[in-house]
Amino acid sequence: MTTPSLVVARKPSVLVVDDLATNRELLLAILGDLGYDVREAKDGVEALEAVAEVEPDLILLDVDMPRLNGIAVCERLKSHPTRRLIPIVILTASNDKETRLRGIAAGADDYLSKPFDSNELLIRTRVLLRERELNARLDATQNVLYALARAVEARDRYTIHHAERVGRYAQEIGALLGFGGDDSELLYEGGVLHDLGKIAIPDAILLKPGRLTEDEMAIMRTHSAAGERICLSLRSVAFYLPIIRHHHERVDGAGYPDHLQGQAIPIGARIVAVADAWDAMISDRPYRAGLDREAALAQLCAGSGSQWDARVVDGLLHLLQRGVVDRVAGEVLSKAG
Ligand SMILES: [Fe+2]
Ligand SMILES: [Fe+2]
Repeated sequence: MTTPSLVVARKPSVLVVDDLATNRELLLAILGDLGYDVREAKDGVEALEAVAEVEPDLILLDVDMPRLNGIAVCERLKSHPTRRLIPIVILTASNDKETRLRGIAAGADDYLSKPFDSNELLIRTRVLLRERELNARLDATQNVLYALARAVEARDRYTIHHAERVGRYAQEIGALLGFGGDDSELLYEGGVLHDLGKIAIPDAILLKPGRLTEDEMAIMRTHSAAGERICLSLRSVAFYLPIIRHHHERVDGAGYPDHLQGQAIPIGARIVAVADAWDAMISDRPYRAGLDREAALAQLCAGSGSQWDARVVDGLLHLLQRGVVDRVAGEVLSKAG
């Protein structure tokens, strides 16, 4: 009797790109024996077409080919937002160190020397395919969180696109303070997810058309710790946890949940707090209309150094002056269509 399984086993798919038929045939035979689903392309142009048709799990890529060489293919794929996650193995002659280095510089994940050794091929492809699978799972986790963040917004028509704007403002403020690259991503993602914990707040409180009572306010304040709790078991988002937990702390220590003060509040949370406050001030809420720009500016300046980090407030003021905030808000709206 066979063991029942809910998961449909799928053969990993490998794309072999080489202009020499003998090389392709050899690789096809070895990889086929190893249980892979193999497709082939005989130059760079064909390779890109094949990837556009169906994304493979792995690409074995020759370098010197007519029409479009392997380095150019690698560069193109590695600058694509999703295709960059497909592992690429450059195929080189064993003594060709320069090509290897060019491949690595173009973003290749590994290289394989010709003539091919089936054992080496097996080990290297297995490692990369495993990585590919893990990456795909991390990606799926992120998407679930984003879906949750959107679900929070969908419940409350007043906060539509709030999360996306906060993420984008946080990124812009961060850039002014010198945070780029991965930090910039982190500010964006932390900004988008900052109010995720509102999923745990009942409609009667979240959507209440009047001011909240003290008790209701206390429940509302649990959303930052609730958001952290939801994400706690997800290792891929460990970096945003401080943003989610601490986005309502105040530099004077009167915020929540931990009454942290000044620099003790993680910088990501200090940045998101200002981005969040600005967007909340100028947006309509169930219990009040949005402030006009002058009033919001006055409130921001009044809270600089007590509620919010003065340096971060200065950053936002600068962006407001240069029209960056309005531009970003417009982009968010047009992206949402
Ligand atoms: Fe919040
Ligand atoms: Fe918020």
